[in-house]
Amino acid sequence: MTRLSGITPSGRVQLGNYLGAIQRWASQGTAEDLYFVSDLHAMTTTHNPAMLRALTGEQLAVLIAAGISAESVFVQSDLTRELGALSWVLECTCTFGEAARMVQFKEKAKGRDGARLSLLTYPVLMAADILLQGADEIPVGEDQRQHVELARTLAKRFNATYGEVFTVPSAVLPPAGARVRDLADPTRKMSKSTRSTSDTAGVVFVLDEPELVRRKIRRAATDGEPSVAYDPARPGPANLLEILAACTGSTPGEVAEGYGSYGALKEGVAEAVVEMLRPIRLRAGELLDDPAELERVRKAGAARAAERGEHRLRSALRLVGTGH
Ligand code: TYM
Repeated sequence: MTRLSGITPSGRVQLGNYLGAIQRWASQGTAEDLYFVSDLHAMTTTHNPAMLRALTGEQLAVLIAAGISAESVFVQSDLTRELGALSWVLECTCTFGEAARMVQFKEKAKGRDGARLSLLTYPVLMAADILLQGADEIPVGEDQRQHVELARTLAKRFNATYGEVFTVPSAVLPPAGARVRDLADPTRKMSKSTRSTSDTAGVVFVLDEPELVRRKIRRAATDGEPSVAYDPARPGPANLLEILAACTGSTPGEVAEGYGSYGALKEGVAEAVVEMLRPIRLRAGELLDDPAELERVRKAGAARAAERGEHRLRSALRLVGTGH
């Protein structure tokens, strides 16, 4: 059984990525699993090449620092040829309507003519990530569920049309409440790709210094109601309680009972988050100070992943009537 998932370096890794995804990837890890930095996906909107390179290194370091085995990680663009080829085959398996119905595409493109074409085709590249490796389970947050569904549809369609090549993958979603919201605006999800620095007031980055983490959490929006109680309809307080529950392996209702005021709750959340992130920040810092080691891990990961996927790509190309 192979689990596979990715993270896009469109910004710095944030607490939602960690609690919603990376933490689970690390805790369930087996030698068969594959986790990668999807740098090709970060090019679907305006991007800065130097920044992309730096963020890719940072994310690779965070994955390892969070406890994912160095044997399981790789960088997507190290497989550009394989993924580019498979992506084309899958684009020829996918309809325009299917791609255009993706919620994330509709939200990000907003009907703009100037949106990059890759914003439309990106879920197909994601399907290529998954299908190339024959992955069975895809641990993702709710926001990626629709994309995994598309990969499922394309795998089934390809197999039925041309011959059995691909494993049909399933999304594995975190328990309810694992969708971390922005601290300053809890009506939207916490996101690493914020547009301006003022936007980051409500985003805790995994590598933020402890004092900054505390400050962001102390300033989190609550709704003015005096009682600390868990009610999913109150997004600000619910978010803080869900974060604390996720950090402590408890439930939001249980953690609410321990606090009499929002001030105290915020202190509790801040300490739990700071302590949880501390070892990751320190280990990632060490890795980033040792680029030769990071490069070694990256090369080994690329070789493993390319070798794993090669026969599926070759079979797929042959079955559609191309290649040798
Ligand atoms: P990305 O980089 O947007 O997010 C990485 C993972 O973090 C989860 N996540 C969250 N979970 C809880 N609360 C939040 N606020 C939050 N924000 C993000 C996401 O659900 C995701 O699991 N396209 C993917 C990366 C990708 C991929 C793949 C994943 C590329 N190829 C193949 C699976 C399989 C992405 O951009 O994730």
